[in-house]
Amino acid sequence: MSRGEQIYKGKAKIVYAGEDPDTLVLHFKDDTSAFDGEKVEQLASKGKVNNQFNAFIMEHLQAAGVPTHFLHLINDTDSLVRRLDMIPVECVVRNRAAGSLSRRLGVEEGLILEPPVFEFFLKNDALHDPMINTSHILSFGWASEDEIHAMRRWSLRVNMLLTALFAAADLILVDFKLEFGRYEGELFLGDEFSPDGCRLWDAKTLEKMDKDRFRRNLGGVVEAYVEVARRLGVPLS
Ligand code: C5P
Repeated sequence: MSRGEQIYKGKAKIVYAGEDPDTLVLHFKDDTSAFDGEKVEQLASKGKVNNQFNAFIMEHLQAAGVPTHFLHLINDTDSLVRRLDMIPVECVVRNRAAGSLSRRLGVEEGLILEPPVFEFFLKNDALHDPMINTSHILSFGWASEDEIHAMRRWSLRVNMLLTALFAAADLILVDFKLEFGRYEGELFLGDEFSPDGCRLWDAKTLEKMDKDRFRRNLGGVVEAYVEVARRLGVPLS
């Protein structure tokens, strides 16, 4: 399986054309960024860990009936996915207050959110990914009403599935971000699911096991990702 031309260079991934025009190769880099790319560092093995972590989660979701773009692992750092027409919107689900929600609404980190909070953000680095609502999505034509409903429904379904998966590994799924796209008129989960795009706390100690370790200079970033993978039974090479 060879990579074709580079299609997109993101902060943590490079996307290449696949051999078949309907596919893409996701290459997971060791680069780790935060604060809209203001803080960037290379963390050895992170690309490999996230690639294998993402494969495990995507296969778990697929087995539970969630349509995802994931096809298969290619090697340690690369995965083959279906090529989607991406919707430029980020879907965030929150089970506990943290991060931008705590800052925006002045609520204490850790507050349990029941029912979970669901938010849309515009995927736009230059504008710092502003929060948007369904009215913006419709008026600017980013997605249809049906797609908005489907993104919300699948995000909440993913939350139920992954909250249970992580709870069985003594981890609290605090929040996460998903992105969706279209393939042959259907909505698919795209992008990745890794500790770079979610918050995970140890259920007993509430220790942070996700990218907040990097954002807050806590150290042991990849070690925490590896520990999460170990607890879930993710096979790491
Ligand atoms: O920063 P905020 O609290 O809004 O992030 C909510 C969740 O979404 C976190 O788990 C964060 O890692 C994830 N996120 C992301 N990519 C973004 C924005 C948020 O993965 N561009």
